[in-house]
Amino acid sequence: MEQTKANTKTTRDASAEGFEPRIVAFVCNWCTYAGADLAGTSRMQYAPNVRIIKLPCTGRIDPMFILKAFEGGADAVLVSGCHPGDCHYTSGNYHARRRWAVFHKLLDFTGIDPGRLHFSWVSAAEGRKFADLINDVTEAVRGLGPFASDNPARRQA
Ligand code: FES
Repeated sequence: MEQTKANTKTTRDASAEGFEPRIVAFVCNWCTYAGADLAGTSRMQYAPNVRIIKLPCTGRIDPMFILKAFEGGADAVLVSGCHPGDCHYTSGNYHARRRWAVFHKLLDFTGIDPGRLHFSWVSAAEGRKFADLINDVTEAVRGLGPFASDNPARRQA
């Protein structure tokens, strides 16, 4: 039994070797996307592990988008939008925050480690914050390792 555990750990270590996390970021057009743009135009360096999906507002982010991202191969998902009170659609980010609180509790049920899902507010003026956020999330996910391909949340090919 101990040998099996050791073999499993060795296999996991081997599969995590050289692991580069794939992070899907759902961001709102008006704040976080503009913050990411500012980081880019200011030539700030950050981890290249993120794929950004721009939406009009975080209030538009359906929890199914997050599950689909995991199913499609993401190791982590980031949701980010305008700071509370700054949403261009008045209250979209408040809806997102409420949805987030409920969805976060469902993660255990789906078998997804809550550490693979991140939420943040980044304004259009916070390019540095965006770059730091991506670096922090990348390092956190690197520590978790790849999202298991045998996880029921991920469709088997
Ligand atoms: Fe940015 Fe609503 S427009 S969160």
